[in-house]
Amino acid sequence: MKPNKPGTRSGSNDQFQWDLFDPEVYGDTNYKKMLAPDCTILGRGVSWFSQVALRRYSVGKGQFSHGIDVGPGSNLYPTLSMLGYCRKITLLEYGTANVEYLRKEIKHLNDSWKPFWDVISPFVGNRDFEWARRTLAERAEVVQGNIFTDLPVGEFQIGTMHFVAESLTADPREVRYGVRNFTRSLVPGSPFAMANMEGSRGYYVGNVWFPAAPVSARNVEWMLDLLAAWQSVERVPKDGTSVHLDAEGKPVDDYKGYLVSTGLSY
Ligand SMILES: C[S@@+](CC[C@H](N)C(=O)[O-])C[C@H]1O[C@@H](n2cnc3c(N)ncnc32)[C@H](O)[C@@H]1O
Repeated sequence: MKPNKPGTRSGSNDQFQWDLFDPEVYGDTNYKKMLAPDCTILGRGVSWFSQVALRRYSVGKGQFSHGIDVGPGSNLYPTLSMLGYCRKITLLEYGTANVEYLRKEIKHLNDSWKPFWDVISPFVGNRDFEWARRTLAERAEVVQGNIFTDLPVGEFQIGTMHFVAESLTADPREVRYGVRNFTRSLVPGSPFAMANMEGSRGYYVGNVWFPAAPVSARNVEWMLDLLAAWQSVERVPKDGTSVHLDAEGKPVDDYKGYLVSTGLSY
């Protein structure tokens, strides 16, 4: 019988050089300024975490003990969305340059993340950006690891995974393994937020090509039907600006939009 884990197939994750993923180039393209879709995706995630946390606090439970963001790349907003609710956060990232970037960034969060924090702050008692900077340095830890082999089972109480499962492979099976490994790394009943590119077939970071497997809202709902006790999947339009660039740095309109999912793990 074949083992239920990915192997080397055309377009599979292990065929790409993730150590060449350039966090500065990727961050400049995607997060230097907050784009409207990210504002929506971030708002959905943090308001969901806030609802679940308030329910928790109302029955006398404290903050979540340990959160996870899988595949942060150079995006800090998923981690920031958990910061007010969580005593410790692990950022599990595979690419070496991304790991180095994240270790530097969590020591002193760049001012460019302030507009993102301004979306989060009203949900967490209007704490200011200095609080976020200080608390991130205290609570976050970056771990180099692989979503397919290094995620524990039933460990974390809250989690995020943005633009990862469908944007690390061209193989639909690996997308499913990625989403499964993420949700099952959570204690049953834990809140999660996940974002996906809709209809993407890959992307350049600088002049290096990385794979994607096109997913639709329906595909994500089907996956979460099996992996989540409760779920909501929403389409978020591109709002005009494509974050995909060709090898010369010109925008390419080659994906449909974004998907944001919130839910509770099984
Ligand atoms: C498109 S980027 C998404 C980055 C970020 N989460 C965001 O919201 O923009 C895909 C990320 O998946 C990471 N990745 C690729 N293969 C991985 C693997 N096997 N395990 C964990 N992360 C992986 C890449 O290094 C990269 O950071």
